[in-house]
Amino acid sequence: MSLIEAWDRQQELYIGGREARFDALLSTVEWHSELAGTKSPTVVDLCCGPAAIGERLARRLPGSRYIGVDIDPVLLELARQVTASFAPGRADLVDSDVADPAWLASTPIGRVDVVCSSTGLGMTPNRV
Ligand SMILES: C[S@@+](CC[C@H](N)C(=O)[O-])C[C@H]1O[C@@H](n2cnc3c(N)ncnc32)[C@H](O)[C@@H]1O
Repeated sequence: MSLIEAWDRQQELYIGGREARFDALLSTVEWHSELAGTKSPTVVDLCCGPAAIGERLARRLPGSRYIGVDIDPVLLELARQVTASFAPGRADLVDSDVADPAWLASTPIGRVDVVCSSTGLGMTPNRV
């Protein structure tokens, strides 16, 4: 079993029906994109971990742009490995503390179509 598969399994212990929830989330992104008339939405994933949403988003909406934000260097490294196969310019990872009200102002994200998150647990106010 890969590390990513092991991650998904243990995340399922926090909240069941993980894949069904991702499916509903991505259906909403798709629906929103259709309404907005775009096949290339920019999707921000707060507390992205290993880019679980990004990996599924890239399969479902290959034209999308994924921006994952997390504070943990190990999970950001896993996210880097997961998003390395994305088409050029389709993924960015941001090392930020989303509990810090200043994070967005100091992060050059630009225009965003959708903001999402899954099991964004342990939102500590300070970097550990
Ligand atoms: C339970 S994991 C979920 C990861 C991913 N969303 C998923 O579903 O696989 C929670 C994530 O939130 C991140 N996190 C916690 N507090 C944070 C903060 N203040 N700013 C940014 N990321 C944070 C952790 O580093 C971790 O990757």
